[in-house]
Amino acid sequence: MAYKEDYNPTNPGVKWFNDRLPILNTVYRYVGAGCYEPRNLNYWWNFGSLAGFMLVVQILTGIVLVMHYTPHVDYAFRSVEHIMRDVNYGWLLRYIHANGASMFFVVVYVHILRGMYYGSYKSPREVLWFLGIIIYLLMMATGFMGYVLPWGQMSFWGATVITNLFSAFDFIPVIGDDIVNFLWGGFSVDNPTLNRFFSLHYLLPFVIAGVVILHIWALHIPGSNNPLGIEVKGPADRIPFYPYYVVKDGLGLAVFIMFFALFVFYMPNILGHPDNYIEADPMVTPAHIVPEWYYLPFYAILRAIPDKLLGVVAMFASILILFALPWLDGSKVRSATFRPVTKFLFWLFVVNGIFLGYLGGKSPDDIILHVGDGGISALIFAQVSTVYYFGYFLVLLPFVSRTETTKPLPTSIAQAVLDKKKG
Ligand code: HEM
Repeated sequence: MAYKEDYNPTNPGVKWFNDRLPILNTVYRYVGAGCYEPRNLNYWWNFGSLAGFMLVVQILTGIVLVMHYTPHVDYAFRSVEHIMRDVNYGWLLRYIHANGASMFFVVVYVHILRGMYYGSYKSPREVLWFLGIIIYLLMMATGFMGYVLPWGQMSFWGATVITNLFSAFDFIPVIGDDIVNFLWGGFSVDNPTLNRFFSLHYLLPFVIAGVVILHIWALHIPGSNNPLGIEVKGPADRIPFYPYYVVKDGLGLAVFIMFFALFVFYMPNILGHPDNYIEADPMVTPAHIVPEWYYLPFYAILRAIPDKLLGVVAMFASILILFALPWLDGSKVRSATFRPVTKFLFWLFVVNGIFLGYLGGKSPDDIILHVGDGGISALIFAQVSTVYYFGYFLVLLPFVSRTETTKPLPTSIAQAVLDKKKG
């Protein structure tokens, strides 16, 4: 159980208020001096608060953008240009929001991988992990629908390609044939599609905020895991959130904002696609339809499998498999620090994921490795990488986690910290 203390205000006015609505008590127990966390959390533990920061940034900038945006196929593209050119600081709001989506995904990917490396999904944090995956799925849906709103060429064609994937389920009796038309609200991606995507894109971030509250609640039942993956045993193992982690999160936030600003002010369009500055035209298909970078690994998995239905199933399975992770990993030791083979396989998984992302941005028949007159295509590499992606979860991790000889664990967090200090 996480260790917490209650707020005991000395000021009579504050005490009066807190006795009637203990909101200050909640703040004190969750992010204040009454909340105790393991003393050895490293900078990878900053990414949860950074994700929270990005959610707030996206909601605030989004609300102001909506004041000037028009969700109609005849006006959407021009209303975005109007924001960029005529609205005071509209360009800044839009660039923060568009690059903010990418930053949000960067932060959340690090956050997820941190959890995988240190075994934070293992008992007793499974529900916390599930809530995280639900947030991630909601983020994917929100990002996808947001990209449609500027009604550029990539908006339109991206929406067309992705919604069409659902036609793979047309074998389902009765509803099968209608799924895609139902998503579109008509017989092609058109105004009703733009309208419903707009409505959901506005709604989902608030749903995410609700799930984040559950996520934090679930976190505070057992308390944070830590880089050693061992339990907090006593007062020597923990420190109060305020001031220690408030300051540490603050430093991380300052550095992160500089990184974010680099994109917003110096290369605001580098993560976007130039075709999205051309208004959507259903009569002109772009040469290459590519989704945003954060979907590319999954896009590569989709295209690695020649069969449409199997490709779609594999793509969804590649994310849903995360739900099974607490059981696929059978090790008694949480942290990969003490699991040398798992550690190696994990880093290979990360490199493989980045490679899949690279392949997702290529055409399947692009030659990636030239050999003589021919070579190996992106498709072949994507197939091999997809096998490793699933092999990691379904074969390697279950086997290695149950058979690996782990390194000896420290007796306590305090002991490990003091030993490290002594060198
Ligand atoms: C809007 C998105 C998210 C927000 C705002 C958020 C917020 C947080 C915060 C503030 C923490 C505590 C600080 C930390 O450990 O970094 C945390 C912990 C955690 N989160 Fe998230 N999170 C988000 C998404 C996710 C996702 C997508 C996953 C996994 C699929 C996830 C899994 C976890 C886990 C396992 C922990 C516990 C880490 C530990 O104690 O070792 N979170 N989250």
